[in-house]
Amino acid sequence: MFKLVLICLSPLLVNSYVHRSASYPICLSETNNACQEEMKKKNETLARISYYYPPLTDSLKNYTEQCRDVMECASGLECFKGKPQWEIFRTSCDDVGTRSYYFDTCIYQILKKIYSNDHNCTAGFSFENLFTADTIFKKEKQCVLNIGQRVCKTDDFNFLQNNYDELIELYTNNPTSGIDRWDHPSGKFYMMHCDVLRSDFVQKSVGIMVSSVNQENVNVKKLLEIAQITQKCTHKSPFVYGNSNYYNIWIKYAQTIVAVMTNVFKHRPTLSQYQCLTSLKSYDFFREVVQCMDAGNVKKCVWFFINLYCQEEIMADSKNQTVTWAPHKESNVPDVSFSMFKNNQRHKFVFTVSNN
Ligand SMILES: *[C@@H]1O[C@H](CO)[C@@H](O)[C@H](O)[C@H]1NC(C)=O
Ligand SMILES: *[C@@H]1O[C@H](CO)[C@@H](O)[C@H](O)[C@H]1NC(C)=O
Ligand SMILES: *[C@@H]1O[C@H](CO)[C@@H](O)[C@H](O)[C@H]1NC(C)=O
Ligand SMILES: *[C@@H]1O[C@H](CO)[C@@H](O)[C@H](O)[C@H]1NC(C)=O
Repeated sequence: MFKLVLICLSPLLVNSYVHRSASYPICLSETNNACQEEMKKKNETLARISYYYPPLTDSLKNYTEQCRDVMECASGLECFKGKPQWEIFRTSCDDVGTRSYYFDTCIYQILKKIYSNDHNCTAGFSFENLFTADTIFKKEKQCVLNIGQRVCKTDDFNFLQNNYDELIELYTNNPTSGIDRWDHPSGKFYMMHCDVLRSDFVQKSVGIMVSSVNQENVNVKKLLEIAQITQKCTHKSPFVYGNSNYYNIWIKYAQTIVAVMTNVFKHRPTLSQYQCLTSLKSYDFFREVVQCMDAGNVKKCVWFFINLYCQEEIMADSKNQTVTWAPHKESNVPDVSFSMFKNNQRHKFVFTVSNN
């Protein structure tokens, strides 16, 4: 038996930009002590930046200068000896460039319209090739503004209209050097593209029931296509992006999970008629499987949750002696087993996960 680790995740939290490494920055108190003057100046500049609108060129530049001063001071500290520059940056600087501001919802909504082709802008643009974003945002300014007028709050639209060129320059400029990349607004901008794709993936997977998950299903094929584009999108993002992000794992393994399930239904066709699976959204199922994968492989996890969701029907079936997957032991193949009590009688079920 493998241990099952269930992690509570906030449901449907798709927006994943602003994704710093989860661990706490190192040497923080040392830096606060030794670089008080620099920290204080940086904090004051930071306090002037609102949570609503992203800082534009000047105030971002001001802030960056302050945080560079902190870095310069901190890099001399004993505590950082032998540590990468990235760690010093993480301790000294805040995510002012890449943080998600309330206003960014406006950009996100525009991207969603562009993605769903619900627009009349003509410039070539592809979510697969992130860096074509400036073709549509720069060359079709009026058209993008037209979309913005429809989907953004009035204040946000005004901010967009009044600062369009500067904002888009900041959001599409692709910095090359390390420190500039770590907190650059373009990281957030491109990540939003991937989030649009991810949100489409989630939406489509809600519409597909577990019992119809197989490689031949047209909707499943489409889903896997989106998964693939999303993965490409994430890899191309210039942002240092948490690879352990939940949705990334999900999307990465979508292909494998679908392959395993196709095989399961191929060998046990009755299973696909079980109500427990015909009424279960593949979104919910995938989510469980992905959470389980900390503890086992895809095959084990798929089986574990089929068993878990379908206990009743498996019981009923076994009573009728119609169990189609009576245990057959194969050497070196792990079993997935569980016990249940019904009418005070103990039933033990053992499922063999075969290698085909
Ligand atoms: C600056 O802000 C950080 C984070 O809010 C805080 O930990 C630190 O004590 C502040 N330092 C100074 C000198 O104001
Ligand atoms: C940037 O800093 C300078 C002085 O350090 C200040 O005069 C200016 O107003 C600041 N600009 C912004 C946009 O914060
Ligand atoms: C796009 O459509 C909007 C209305 O939906 C219209 O106002 C605008 O002129 C159109 N733009 C172009 C470039 O055709
Ligand atoms: C089990 O048998 C009962 C009575 O014969 C029948 O109503 C029920 O549909 C059967 N269940 C399954 C899963 O075949």
